[in-house]
Amino acid sequence: MIHVKSEKEIDLMREPCKILRDTFAYVGSEIKAGMTTKEVDALVERYIRSSGAYPSCLGYGGFPASACISVNEMVVHGIPDERVLKDGDIVSVDVCAYKNGYHGDACRTFCIGNVSEDVKRLVQVTEECFFKAVEKLRAGTPLYDIGYRVQKHAEAHGYGVVRSYTGHGIGKEMHEDPSVPNFGKLGTGLRLKAGMVLCVEPMITMGSWKVRLLDDGWGAVTVDGKPAAHYENTLVVREDGVEILTL
Ligand code: MF3
Ligand code: CO
Repeated sequence: MIHVKSEKEIDLMREPCKILRDTFAYVGSEIKAGMTTKEVDALVERYIRSSGAYPSCLGYGGFPASACISVNEMVVHGIPDERVLKDGDIVSVDVCAYKNGYHGDACRTFCIGNVSEDVKRLVQVTEECFFKAVEKLRAGTPLYDIGYRVQKHAEAHGYGVVRSYTGHGIGKEMHEDPSVPNFGKLGTGLRLKAGMVLCVEPMITMGSWKVRLLDDGWGAVTVDGKPAAHYENTLVVREDGVEILTL
């Protein structure tokens, strides 16, 4: 069931979403080669808690940290650990914040030091996929237009679109209906309504779109070991466009 949010609920969602915005500005200024992913997680946790929010990945389905931190060939849901970030890495930091009874969810992929031009391009195109997907989005848009636009942009650059993880609705629950795939056929799926709040989150790979789950049951890596990037925002569908709460 899809929960269409009232303006009052959307107002309550602004705060966790703004905290995520600020968290990424902070993490972006601090993250560097030599840090472990666990140290990055600690930065996230401290920042979110000091903002009066709860880092709601922590404990979700048993996830043991505040941020999902996925380096290079890891696509999503990396468990922070002793892995040391090095020059040339790309690191996706995926974070949820819970405040006022609502969740916000966003992800950024950070470049560590000197990242090769082709990998930088992957990160940039992944962000572009998000913006292409939401550019024409408004009340009445068919749901799978989002995925169609992500896929079209990614594949035009020769990249792969991860199929086994999707975006989602969000609100009182971190994951609500509908599921928002990053691939699809134009003009299909339910018509979105004003007041729906969605997480649109392209996960784009440099090679094969196929992923494999790690033994820890969380981390997912590309089967060919090539890098992947991830970019996500929480947004409200409006009559005349979208309002992006995490930007
Ligand atoms: N932010 C992630 C998402 O987009 C949350 C993953 S669940 C967790 O769905 F438990 F790994 F945090
Ligand atoms: Co999400």
